Amino acid sequence: MERIVYLDGQFINESEAKVSIFDRGFLFGDAVYEVTAVLDGKLVENEGHMVRLQRSCNELQISLPVTTEEITTIQKSLIEKNNLNEGGIYLQVSRGSAGDRDFGYPSGIKPTLVLFTQARSLLDTPKAVKGMKVITIEDIRWKRRDIKTVGLLAPCMAKQAAIDAKVDDAWLVEDGYITEGSSNNAYIVTQEGVLVTRPLSNDILHGITRKALLELAEKEKITIEERLFTVAEAYKASEAFVSSATTFVWPVVEIDGRTIGAGAPGQVANKLRKIYIELAKATAE
Ligand code: PDD
Repeated sequence: MERIVYLDGQFINESEAKVSIFDRGFLFGDAVYEVTAVLDGKLVENEGHMVRLQRSCNELQISLPVTTEEITTIQKSLIEKNNLNEGGIYLQVSRGSAGDRDFGYPSGIKPTLVLFTQARSLLDTPKAVKGMKVITIEDIRWKRRDIKTVGLLAPCMAKQAAIDAKVDDAWLVEDGYITEGSSNNAYIVTQEGVLVTRPLSNDILHGITRKALLELAEKEKITIEERLFTVAEAYKASEAFVSSATTFVWPVVEIDGRTIGAGAPGQVANKLRKIYIELAKATAE
């Protein structure tokens, strides 16, 4: 069964959706994106994703072809047209096509807007129960990781390195400190029970799930330190985990072959996953 996708004002079969070879998303990675989780056929924390989308566009001087309210209407139509109950909606806005290849931003072109659904289990997933194994790898990405661009070759290389090493994901390291996972934010819990994650800056993506999790952790009276942490500190942690729209919270039980804590999902990760899912379900629209 073909999906119905959205391309520039039209809902069409995926096999009919075609974008120009001159589209700057294709030629330069000149495009931004968002992934919103879908639970019970509803959008999870979509407002946060729309705010970040607008910010990414502003940073790159891309003007959204429709308002974020209209995007939400499109997202809801796609959920309905594809009978999506659980999974995600991918959305991408590229600067568009000027009919040739030139580096400077062309003026007067219309951005290309693409959305499609992805059905997948978010709640009932083995990784949440067993935890994931990660390797650490040098972070070779550019210096504006706060902008959610489609220029994702470095994360693809990191993820492939993890697959080749027969583990689940890679944590990225810059100057000895963990920045984030290949497509998620990274956290450790120290032996003293302190939740540590890297502070917001241009070095990491400002995760929508991260924001909600830190608020939940604060309500739970968990001590939080937003600071840099080294690979060595991560090896000694009592727990580790990641967060994103597609994982919510997934525990990390092994880093570079070293067992973290008891080698099983920890209390803090399990608790945060549980209460995040409750919040996500209660606030989904
Ligand atoms: N990735 N850091 C990076 C590098 C990411 O790519 C993502 C999300 C996150 C988590 O952000 P959020 O909680 O807002 O999803 C952090 C998405 C899911 C992706 O690329 O598919």
